[in-house]
Amino acid sequence: NDESTVTITVVGASGDLAKKKIFPALFALYYEDCLPKHFTIFGYARSNMTDAELRNMVSRTLTCRIDKRENCNEKMEEFLKRCFYHSGQYDSEEHFRDLDKKLKQHEGSRVSNRLFYLSIPPNIFLDVVKCASISSSSVNGWTRVIVEKPFGRDSDSSAALTRGLKQYLVEDQIFRIDHYLGKELVENLSVLRFSNLVFEPLWSRQYIRNVQLIFSEDFGTEGRGGYFDRYGIIRDIMQNHLLQILAIFAMETPISLEAEDIRNEKVKVLCSMKPLQLEDVVIGQYKSHTKGGTTYPAYTDDKTVPKDSLTPTFAAAALFINNARWDGVPFLMKAGKALHTKGAEIRVQFRHVPGNLYKRSFGTDLDTSTNELVIRVQPDEAIYLKINNKIPGLGMRLDRKTDVETCPRYSKEIPDAYERLLLDAIEGERRLFIRSDELDAAWELFTPLLKELEEKRIAPELYPYGSRGPVGAHYLAAKYNVRWGDLTTEHKA
Ligand code: BG6
Repeated sequence: NDESTVTITVVGASGDLAKKKIFPALFALYYEDCLPKHFTIFGYARSNMTDAELRNMVSRTLTCRIDKRENCNEKMEEFLKRCFYHSGQYDSEEHFRDLDKKLKQHEGSRVSNRLFYLSIPPNIFLDVVKCASISSSSVNGWTRVIVEKPFGRDSDSSAALTRGLKQYLVEDQIFRIDHYLGKELVENLSVLRFSNLVFEPLWSRQYIRNVQLIFSEDFGTEGRGGYFDRYGIIRDIMQNHLLQILAIFAMETPISLEAEDIRNEKVKVLCSMKPLQLEDVVIGQYKSHTKGGTTYPAYTDDKTVPKDSLTPTFAAAALFINNARWDGVPFLMKAGKALHTKGAEIRVQFRHVPGNLYKRSFGTDLDTSTNELVIRVQPDEAIYLKINNKIPGLGMRLDRKTDVETCPRYSKEIPDAYERLLLDAIEGERRLFIRSDELDAAWELFTPLLKELEEKRIAPELYPYGSRGPVGAHYLAAKYNVRWGDLTTEHKA
């Protein structure tokens, strides 16, 4: 409403995430006229900086959408005028009280709503939440806090963090971000399932043979080894980003699109899953590789990583959902850094056509030509269905090269995931944020495996930087009669 104000305080304002994602997303929202009329942005961090210095730092990260260059500089200037800086310690109630005074000056007599974005390492989450809630909560509006993963390292540490947060906040104030939930195609997944008659009836063990969730990056942990080595790829990508996609993919139809209804269904499907088994997991770590005269580093060449680190930079796993819809269907996940390509996809492989009429009649080898639905999350968003076709001409030859694209392409630039999520947090829309019981369920699935890997000091299979990852992943898929889809050799929409 026009009479209220919103202040967004980015705690950890000089960090990488704030610079690369949060300030640019806030500016994009401003550009699109999506921010409330009375808004103010505060950067909070320890270093001494003036408002002008913060504005200068932020201005270097802002860009305008390709199709909207007009007024760009003007808009940037306007936006920067609404950005301020407050320097303070993360564990000082007094410094947060000083912040409170500044916020009040901006808010005047209006209802004040306050959003704190914690863009800081997890070991100081609780200090900040304590000080912010005691010293700079809103007195007449809402106070919300966005937290980024890692939410602990396992069930116990995650539960301890939740308990800590709940000393100062109620669940409704906590917005746990998983930025994959803000991605366009992940949002589109529910639309695809629940608003197209042709897909939902096929969405079960009866027609689906396996589902693959693939994440691949073509660069290593460059510069982030310190964080990464403590977590590894399973905690960094699988337990959150890929598992969240899986939950949305596999959940039952929610009662409505209300946040609680959707999150209830996600929790139910996570609780129906079997914790991961060591024999259904393959881990890898990239090693140095020289190609075309360039030498790419090994993971352990990173100065912030111990030389004998066993932290996986690649993992593949088979997961199962023990419910009527999915009994026996393997959900295969694969995530890796320093691989040959960059992308994220969901692949749905359907069963064979019973009877295989064409093979019987013409001897055409259709063994692997089952239908496949591909939902490409990135880099170039697309949804397409692979359908068997007759190759034109005399005689009968079939192939699957002609794809039916089910997702029209719009000549619109796609907003960054952080834009959607920030806007949702401002509007109090919780649908795309992780509730604490969801988080608990996610950790339950991975914690026993993570403990076993660490206790038994299981060595990852080494794979060359820029390769397709360890061969073990193929054996794992073969065990379930699956062949991984390939992100690069496939048709690009
Ligand atoms: C983050 C991980 O959550 O997601 C990073 O910590 C990873 O390791 C990143 O690189 C990938 O996000 P995106 O949006 O670039 O695919």
